[in-house]
Amino acid sequence: MFAFNFNKIAMPIFYEKVALNTFLKSVKNQNTTIGFVPTMGALHQGHLSLMQQSLKENNHTVVSIFVNPTQFNNSDDLTKYPRTLSQDVEKIQQLHSDIIIYAPSTEDIYEGHVHAEKFDFDGLENQMEGKFRPGHFDGVGTIVKRLFEIITPDKAYFGEKDFQQLQIVKKMTQKNNLPVSIVACPIFREPNGLAMSSRNERLTPQQRQEASLIHQTLLQAKERFKNKSLMEAKEWVTAVFATHPTFELEYFEIADEETLTPCITPLKDKNYRAFIAVFVNNIRLIDTISLK
Ligand code: PAF
Repeated sequence: MFAFNFNKIAMPIFYEKVALNTFLKSVKNQNTTIGFVPTMGALHQGHLSLMQQSLKENNHTVVSIFVNPTQFNNSDDLTKYPRTLSQDVEKIQQLHSDIIIYAPSTEDIYEGHVHAEKFDFDGLENQMEGKFRPGHFDGVGTIVKRLFEIITPDKAYFGEKDFQQLQIVKKMTQKNNLPVSIVACPIFREPNGLAMSSRNERLTPQQRQEASLIHQTLLQAKERFKNKSLMEAKEWVTAVFATHPTFELEYFEIADEETLTPCITPLKDKNYRAFIAVFVNNIRLIDTISLK
């Protein structure tokens, strides 16, 4: 089943994979490319920038909006995840009338078996988010693989804020020989430096302002990593958050960008990145910065 939105110019919104797949087959030929932006909705400027990049580089752009239950290891987080489909559709329409939206039900994706597949991501899944959110990346791998199978995109766009997710998706694509290029897109930040995230909607205006501390700390940690020891940078970050009652630091890690293994002694030919996860009143925020 699909519906056309007649507000301005018709833009198809698909709720079922069979109809979407048939439609995409009808528009796709050797000379056209499909760009794909997977989302869980609650769209912000960061998502829109991924769509803009896809629009520039492809003949057709598909955006999926689906809050994927198998990637939530915390049921409260799943329940509270913002669901704003009609506003999301409006934002997409305002950006470009030709974007194809896929907003499936859980049944359409999982067909009665709401379970994650087990993946081997060569150890990428055991670090940082993987340690603190068991099973999360199996859920991400499952949904991204399914969406790739339904949409068969030529290119798929992922933000660098979820850098570990980006590396995991690249690995999954490579290991399964999926014919799709993964495009990494820069982090979009609010004017105070806070990385854009759908979860920011759940912060009070004051918390949202105070949460700029996360990016500021990463910037200063980057300077410390250049001039001081790795241990000193880590201890300094821990101390910063210990003195702010609004925040609870879950982890701060400096890791190799490729393998995501924690850096012990920095090597010249490796690229490192700092990763952080912080709770602000039970709302979990993550951010990252390249240390190059
Ligand atoms: O980054 C996200 O929003 C989600 O993890 C994704 C890639 C849409 C899969 O559900």
